Amino acid sequence: MKFFVDTADVDEIRELAATGLLDGVTTNPSLVAKSGRPFLEVIREICEIVDGPVSAEVTATDHSTMLSEGRKLAQLAGNVAVKVPLTPDGLKTCRALADDGVMVNVTLCFSPSQSILAAKAGAAFVSPFIGRLDDISRDGMGLIADIRMIYDNYEEFATEILVASIRSPNHVAEAAKIGADVATIPPGVIRQLFNHPLTDKGLDAFLADWARTGQSILDA
Ligand code: G3P
Repeated sequence: MKFFVDTADVDEIRELAATGLLDGVTTNPSLVAKSGRPFLEVIREICEIVDGPVSAEVTATDHSTMLSEGRKLAQLAGNVAVKVPLTPDGLKTCRALADDGVMVNVTLCFSPSQSILAAKAGAAFVSPFIGRLDDISRDGMGLIADIRMIYDNYEEFATEILVASIRSPNHVAEAAKIGADVATIPPGVIRQLFNHPLTDKGLDAFLADWARTGQSILDA
C-alpha cells in the first residue's frame, strides 16, 4: 500500500519524506488555503521534495477552463497529478488530460457507480472520501470494498483506489485489508500509526534491563 500525505504544509512534507515512508502527496483547495501560500509555488516546492505523485486540484467547474488549468498544473513538474472533481465536466477533462499522458486524480467520489465513471475516464487515481461518508452515518469503508470488487472484475480498469478523508489509524489498516492501492493520510494520523502502548512499555523494559548489564554495543 502506498502512503501519500494529505497536506499542503511543506515543512510537514519535508519531515515525513525524511522517514522514507512517503510515496506521494495530495492537496486540495482547502489545504492550500490553510497553508496561506501561493498555490503554484507550493506545488512546485512539494514536487521537488517528493518524487511520487503530487495532486494539485483545478478550481474551475467548466471543461474548457478546467483543461487549461490542468495543463498549466501538469507543466509545473513531471510528477503532478491533476485533481478534478467527479462531475461530467471533470470527467471530460480527465479523459483529455489522460490522453495527453497526464496523471489525473478524480476526487469527491462517494459511490461505486461514480468510481466506474472515473475508471472509464482514464483516471490514474480515484479518491473516495471515507470519513465524510462516516460523518453522515454511511459506510465509508464499505465503499472501498465495493470499488475494489468492481475494479478487480475488469482488467481494463487501471485506476488506483486512493482512500481519502482518512481520520484514524484503523481507517488505514482496514483499507489495506481490503486491498486499496493508496491511503492519503493527514500528518497527525501518520504519526499515530507508530503508536502502541505495548511498544513503549516493552522498549522501556528492554532499556532498563540493558542498562543493568553496563554494556555498550558501540564500545564492544
Ligand atoms: O484531500 C481530500 C480529503 O482527504 C479530505 O479529507 O478530512 O477534509 O474529509 P477531509
